[in-house]
Amino acid sequence: MTASPNPIEQSFELAAARCADLTPQVYQRLFEAHPEARAMFRSQGSELVMGSMLALAIEAVLDFAAERRGHFRLIACEAASHEAYGTSRELFIAFFAIIRDTLRDLLGNEWSGDIARAWDALLVEIDAFAVPA
Ligand code: HEM
Repeated sequence: MTASPNPIEQSFELAAARCADLTPQVYQRLFEAHPEARAMFRSQGSELVMGSMLALAIEAVLDFAAERRGHFRLIACEAASHEAYGTSRELFIAFFAIIRDTLRDLLGNEWSGDIARAWDALLVEIDAFAVPA
């Protein structure tokens, strides 16, 4: 028997059943909310970079919300290294809320109170964890 997923995992699983790739929606939302972020990405080949950045961020979030086996460390590491891309700490942290909001829109009625509370708590924890070195 497999253990039931925590609400964060559950939110990604429900979204995956509706949408094979969150990348376009996440970046559309990011660039609408923070237009200055668009220019931080390279002009050639940025789609690959953006896709893998999101995939790694999601892996890190899932690990942070569950077993914390290792991928979660990427959050603190990249918070420090993103300064070089001109990404402020606030903007870096905002990416996680952008992911949350994208999932919430996709889930509609299935966005439960449990999922909402788990995400609220997670965003606060990530903010505390991602203190630049
Ligand atoms: C809105 C917030 C963010 C912005 C604007 C941003 C921007 C960027 C940019 C401009 C690059 C380099 C692209 C290139 O090589 O052309 C990059 C790479 C990368 N980003 Fe982000 N990023 C954000 C949030 C995050 C988050 C939350 C994570 C994961 C926790 C992350 C993980 C990565 C990784 C793994 C790379 C690959 C290269 C590296 O290790 O620096 N990013 N990001």
